[in-house]
Amino acid sequence: MKILLRILPLILLGSYSFSLKAQTNLSPLPQLGHNTVKEVIAAMTLEEKAMLLVGAESKKSQRKMSDGTAIGQTEIKVSGAAGNTAAIPRLGIPSMVFADGPAGIRIAATRKGDTINTYYATGFPVGSLLASTWNTGLVAAVGKAMGNEVKEYGVDILLAPGINIHRNPLNGRNFEYYSEDPLVAGKMAAAMINGIQSNGVGTSVKHFIANNQETSRGSINVIVSERALREIYLKNFRIAIAESNPWTVMSSYNKVNGVYTSERRDLLTTVLRDEWKYKGFVMTDWFGGHDWIAQMQAGNDLLMPGRANQVQALIQAVKNNSLSEKVLDINVEHMLNIILKSPTFKNYKYSNKPDLKAHAQIARAAATEGMVLLKNNAHTLPFAKSVKTVAAFGDSFYNPIAGGYGSGDVNKAYVISGDKGLLDAGYQIDSKLSNVYAEYFRNNKELMLPGITGVRPPAILPEMVVAYNDIDESAANSDLALITIGRNAGEGEDRKLDGNYNLTLNEIQQIKKIAMRFHTDHKKVVVVLNIGGVIDVSQWKDDVDAILLAWQPGQEAGYAIADILSGKVNPSGKLPDTFPADYADVPSAKNFPGEPAGKPDQVIYQEGIYIGYRYYDSFNVKPLYEFGYGLSYTDFSVSDLKLSAKTLTNSLIITVTVKNTGKVVGKEVIQLYISAPTGSIDKPVQELRAFDKTRLLQPGESQHFTFRITAADLASYHTDKSQWISDAGRYLVRMGVSSRDIRQSATFNVPKDWLIETDHDVLQPQVAIKEYKPPVTK
Ligand code: BGC
Repeated sequence: MKILLRILPLILLGSYSFSLKAQTNLSPLPQLGHNTVKEVIAAMTLEEKAMLLVGAESKKSQRKMSDGTAIGQTEIKVSGAAGNTAAIPRLGIPSMVFADGPAGIRIAATRKGDTINTYYATGFPVGSLLASTWNTGLVAAVGKAMGNEVKEYGVDILLAPGINIHRNPLNGRNFEYYSEDPLVAGKMAAAMINGIQSNGVGTSVKHFIANNQETSRGSINVIVSERALREIYLKNFRIAIAESNPWTVMSSYNKVNGVYTSERRDLLTTVLRDEWKYKGFVMTDWFGGHDWIAQMQAGNDLLMPGRANQVQALIQAVKNNSLSEKVLDINVEHMLNIILKSPTFKNYKYSNKPDLKAHAQIARAAATEGMVLLKNNAHTLPFAKSVKTVAAFGDSFYNPIAGGYGSGDVNKAYVISGDKGLLDAGYQIDSKLSNVYAEYFRNNKELMLPGITGVRPPAILPEMVVAYNDIDESAANSDLALITIGRNAGEGEDRKLDGNYNLTLNEIQQIKKIAMRFHTDHKKVVVVLNIGGVIDVSQWKDDVDAILLAWQPGQEAGYAIADILSGKVNPSGKLPDTFPADYADVPSAKNFPGEPAGKPDQVIYQEGIYIGYRYYDSFNVKPLYEFGYGLSYTDFSVSDLKLSAKTLTNSLIITVTVKNTGKVVGKEVIQLYISAPTGSIDKPVQELRAFDKTRLLQPGESQHFTFRITAADLASYHTDKSQWISDAGRYLVRMGVSSRDIRQSATFNVPKDWLIETDHDVLQPQVAIKEYKPPVTK
């Protein structure tokens, strides 16, 4: 027996080395990177293919949302990352790691058993703010810094950017996304993706497509015309894909015209790959969709986060001939092509030590540049020299909301408070008042969970009602009132109209009381909006002297706000969304979040292409603050608009000059809108076709801009023909600094209908939609 025990290992070792040798002698196993992708696929078993196409995450470590969906939370390799793919070591295929999200990488800040290191990430400003910079170079710099953290923390793909169109202000995830306009959203996305991917890591542009609400997000059927899809909801993705080639695309949770997006071959293959020539892979959102076989056939290559029964289902489907193994081969090929580029495959030795200090500076610069000055009566801002002590009202002044919650949150090391920001800039804060707030926070600790990463909304502290005595005293003790209004929102639910979009009664009364008291002493009142999406301003704007839309500015919040209030930085943000005069004016107000009320299962996009300014302009509805709007501490002139020709041939060169005519340095956004002739289909009054931003211009300094417009930039989608056509006729170029502050215009002609492209007849709604039509056609 003893002898047998001794020689058994030798026998086993012998047979193992024999089998290895035998294998080597016959044909060595293909290895990813050494052999072609096709050779690797040929060597894969059916089980291995199925495994690779299903995320490797165990169900246990997902964090369930109340609606049954989840956000990712894995403990494998990078603690707190969202998920990972399966490894097949036999063929040299490593496991890739994915992490959220749009405001920076979301991973756990601490790790079990590691008492020495922390793994904080930079909390960058949210998408709405980044879009408000209208500065693609700056957004690319943010992306570059984010991508560096992705790489240095051992992650392969950042699940960002989120670029869904802001269809309705109540969408709980608008903060993550960019704009109501597909050009702005697409250009920002491309800049962000290029920045992130310049590090050699990947992105997942999401959520493809029409994930424009959180109510019933896992099941809602979006009923929308093909024209609205092509011109609005697909357009942003198309721009992003053409200009930045994201490694992956994440399909959305919702259905479009009756079918889950992740199960639509016409969307994921016909449009994305055949029409747009996309070469990366598509993953589901976490537990998205429902028919796994249909997802595979649609070209949704990877099911995330993955469950064992999905692997079995794919294997069974091939075995019983309901799914062709060839489909799996194609999907595996898409994935292997990306795995080859990943840092994990390249064995990148990540440091776990990104330069957080340097990135904080980028976060601050971006935050400052994306803030929008909405109102500034009699030069209230920047603070006059006489302003030394500020009475700061508002919970979120002392505890700023850096970003929204859910998968778009970031585990940042700190958030700079408003008081820290102002003190650092040399101001005093009325300490009597700040002590009242401090006490309120102490007494309500359990309701204050700033910066949490989780699926549940952070407990919200109700806005403190300041006693009149305290207001009175602070007016006597300070030179100016600063009122911060905060809003948080996130994944899993939409915002409410009352008490969220519309300010609460307490908030409005408080603004009025403070304003009245401070104005009695001829002291100014400034409101800072620390919000992720559009809110009502109409009801209280006349009570105050200045309004700064600070958005959710990331971890450097207090510093960035102080940069603008003090005048250290001149505001240059412009609205990527319309602020309506009333919520009822929002074109989707009647169709959000769908029907039946309570738990909607379908939503009809009756407004069609007329969302945002396209609607307000074409239906003669006056917004409060229009798309593209934002004030500055200086003035700019726009002059010398010139067109290279009166008739469009190949392309048209449009030039213009922007000059700083005021007294301080500043930047301006130059916006090029075009009005197209109606032709055979209705058109919006104008559409943004290009934009750019000046460098920092000294007083008196000018910058010259050149835009190149092609016929494709002018086209509309003619659903009856499945064609993009630039209609013959007269086009008006409108050059401005907002959608309603047009400074120069000129016309050109397109001599005959210009066919740009014929697409496939796909994605059509199955029911008739009564789309709104503009009252007057031009
Ligand atoms: C979100 C995605 C996110 C994923 C992974 C989902 O709930 O919709 O945006 O990337 O979770 O955390």
